[in-house]
Amino acid sequence: MTYHYNFKDVLGRAERITWRVEDMIGEGKTLDFSKPFMPEGLARVEEMTFLSPADKRTLNQIRGHAYLSIFGLVEEFILPFVLDHAKPFINGEDYRARAFLEFASEEAKHIHLFRRFRQEFVKGFHVDCKVIGPADAVAKHILSHHPLSVALTILHIEWMTQRHFQDSVNDDGTLDPQFKNLLKHHWMEEMQHAQLDTLMVEAIAENMKQAEIDEAIDGYLKIGGFLDNGMKQQTAFDLEAFEAVTKRRLTPADRDEFMRVQHQANRWTYLGTGMTHKNFLETLGKLSAAKRALLESVARDFC
Ligand SMILES: [Fe+2]
Ligand SMILES: [Fe+2]
Repeated sequence: MTYHYNFKDVLGRAERITWRVEDMIGEGKTLDFSKPFMPEGLARVEEMTFLSPADKRTLNQIRGHAYLSIFGLVEEFILPFVLDHAKPFINGEDYRARAFLEFASEEAKHIHLFRRFRQEFVKGFHVDCKVIGPADAVAKHILSHHPLSVALTILHIEWMTQRHFQDSVNDDGTLDPQFKNLLKHHWMEEMQHAQLDTLMVEAIAENMKQAEIDEAIDGYLKIGGFLDNGMKQQTAFDLEAFEAVTKRRLTPADRDEFMRVQHQANRWTYLGTGMTHKNFLETLGKLSAAKRALLESVARDFC
């Protein structure tokens, strides 16, 4: 074992975290639209000087809606992948099987959580915000890659959620408390997922030849390219929603600036924060030092 995690300990920690979707939203708990939803480190609305403070808050909330939707989307391919990975261990490896089943069950809860928050958002925002998808087509495309490429993509996402909360959300006192609570409770469970996924990557790579591993890492980079195209499309959807809710059309120059700043903000939120996470790089470096160096140079475009 090259990591300090083991299935029994991870399962024990996961089982002690016991929040319900109903504790987070609904039954009197709702979103406060007078506050931002996303931390500025991810939203990057402040540098858009052509927007008023109210406009910036509106755009921040549109980004919050996209966050709920994009996480709903990625959790939909993580869930079946983790279930498939758990299957071979059900007979005999009790802690491993239970840890992965707990992981899958938490992702099902997260899908429900993000969906419930989206419903609350729609109730309060009144303008339809489009999102990339559909989820089943995205899942089908991503799951068509080598299992190691998919497991690396999931590992990237798990460490990304840790980064979001620890670097940007935890110390931000301006955020809507309900939205912040969602990010906090998601973060709590994702810590165990990141560790389990590290072990999953290690197990999948165990009997692979170096050339196959390198090819699978290239597959992970291709999935990153696919997601980056999605980010560009999502930025265009966010611009559309912003113009619809503020009932005005930005000048061509301001539209260009919106697309430039916000596409990069989305790249950082969903790609850069995962690619440059030190634990993700550590795992990748154990698989291939050369590919780690490649990723570190590619990642500069996503920061
Ligand atoms: Fe999750
Ligand atoms: Fe997760």
